[in-house]
Amino acid sequence: MAAEKWVLMVTAQTPTNIAVIKYWGKRDETLILPVNDSISVTLDPDHLCTTTTVAVSPSFDQDRMWLNGKEISLGGGRYQNCLKEIRSRACDVEDTEKGIKIEKKDWQKLHLHIASFNNFPTAAGLASSAAGFACLVFSLAKLMNLKENQSQLSAIARQGSGSACRSLFGGFVKWILGKEGNGSDSLAVQLVDEEHWNDLVIIIAVVSSRQKETSSTTGMRESVETSLLLQHRAKEVVPKRIVQMEEAIQNHDFSSFAQLTCADSNQFHAVCLDTSPPIFYMNDTSHRIISYVERWNRSVGSPQVAYTFDAGPNAVLIARNRKIATELLQRLLFFFPPNSETDLNSYVLGDKSILHDAG
Ligand code: ADP
Ligand code: DP6
Ligand code: CO
Repeated sequence: MAAEKWVLMVTAQTPTNIAVIKYWGKRDETLILPVNDSISVTLDPDHLCTTTTVAVSPSFDQDRMWLNGKEISLGGGRYQNCLKEIRSRACDVEDTEKGIKIEKKDWQKLHLHIASFNNFPTAAGLASSAAGFACLVFSLAKLMNLKENQSQLSAIARQGSGSACRSLFGGFVKWILGKEGNGSDSLAVQLVDEEHWNDLVIIIAVVSSRQKETSSTTGMRESVETSLLLQHRAKEVVPKRIVQMEEAIQNHDFSSFAQLTCADSNQFHAVCLDTSPPIFYMNDTSHRIISYVERWNRSVGSPQVAYTFDAGPNAVLIARNRKIATELLQRLLFFFPPNSETDLNSYVLGDKSILHDAG
């Protein structure tokens, strides 16, 4: 290490992902091992994403982190677990221009400063923990010159937040639940890349950007403890749906894709209701959006739009193509005007071109 004071920094940006077959329930709370496989689609990095800068310097006397400009404690197990996993894999780093040489063993003593921003509501059911921890692990892996591939890194991100493992890839991604007790095979794999099904357009209707009352972590713990429907879902329902969903994605079969996506979102929220005490993530506006989309799909005779809701009231709407997305957006703006009494306050588009199409 050079004697003089220096700072070495890396900045990375990671998009969030939205599950179309949901993860809800852990079989191991510390390692974050799920009770079922899940499949998600990673959003366009231009829209909902986390930007994280990680810095290392001999002048830092402790690890510190700022989230959206406010310092947060790194004391919680999840941040420490990720940092520990990454430090143990760190390699030599040399920056000849700056005259910096960090040896593998130095990483155990050097401290980090981390600053992270989400460009979308945090802890509001839009998977901030997914983009957040994926970005943290990815930027630290770059800084410390890790040799692991994306799937191996996903197993580290998983220990920050389960859904984070899927944000290390674009396109459609599967988180394999794994069999090993140590979680080494509970990782994400890319099913298809972002080009495979690029007709799809994702529109996010932000029903409320308020922080949810029950975090995903607490909610799923209570479901595992009290919901019989969760047990049935994990053993009997999801394994079949995973096979069908993979097939639908491979074949660009929108009808099956939409049917599975909507059914899985509804079953996840049914599990929340089956939890004691029951958890309500959706609100009246969410329910009205579901009814609206169901009516539209039925009136056409085949699905045009799929909906899915994570642990919050915000709707993720997936249109089969741009034409439908334009129509969907116009209908949403008409029936759910922003800032009206519905409290629907904004739309985030998965494809910029729709903004122009929609005028
Ligand atoms: P969400 O639906 O937004 O994923 P969760 O309850 O799953 O909500 O997780 C929210 C938590 O994720 C936050 O309280 C914070 O601990 C963590 N988190 C969110 N964004 C980041 C980030 N950019 N970097 C690190 N951790 C983050
Ligand atoms: C409904 O990954 O946020 O979004 O692993 O406890 O951090 P922890 O939970 P988290 O849960 C996500 C739940 C979900 C479904 C999904 O993303 O698959
Ligand atoms: Co989350």
